[in-house]
Amino acid sequence: MNNPNVRDYIRTIADFPHEGIMFRDVTTLFADARGFRMAIDQLLHPYAGVRIDKVVGLEARGFILGGAVAHQMSTGFVPVRKKGKLPGPVISEAYQLEYGEAVMEIHDDALKAGERVLIVDDLLATGGTAEAGIALCRRLGAEVIGCAFVIDLPELGGRARLEAMGMPVHTLCAFD
Ligand code: PRP
Ligand code: ADE
Repeated sequence: MNNPNVRDYIRTIADFPHEGIMFRDVTTLFADARGFRMAIDQLLHPYAGVRIDKVVGLEARGFILGGAVAHQMSTGFVPVRKKGKLPGPVISEAYQLEYGEAVMEIHDDALKAGERVLIVDDLLATGGTAEAGIALCRRLGAEVIGCAFVIDLPELGGRARLEAMGMPVHTLCAFD
């Protein structure tokens, strides 16, 4: 590929996990050294000079991206996980998915009041997962300064939903 961009590394799998879903697969982006570095560099870009105390990654692919972003920013990393996965005391938020329903959790001592948080995930669809993540961070008293994703699916309305809450959204590419 000549001058590839992040979007070029993302593979689409039709009818996964259900018929009718065009699954945007970032494993092919993560597996490519140039693609992965490009994605992390571009996720970081808007936050140069911005104070961020913690990066919060959303299960599961937000852990891979958020861990690399946190390392590069020299911040701590906090996981938001699906129900029942975190070992300590948690708070929970239920949310709707593009295909189903779920509950997200965070350790109740993972963020301190006033900490400035960046939420990271691979993909923004309906925005339900990110909104649950924002709610969990806010319930611990943290300030969510933005949400960063590799992929936007604008037709599913997530960006509009988050921006309507006043949340700054950063995405690297979009698919119909
Ligand atoms: C995907 C994706 C986001 C979420 C986006 O995760 O990685 O976290 O869906 O959808 P939304 O904007 O409509 O909420 P998924 O729920 O497939 O879970 P996984 O990462 O654990 O596979
Ligand atoms: N999460 C929700 N919708 C998705 C899609 N189309 N591709 C990958 N992950 C998703």
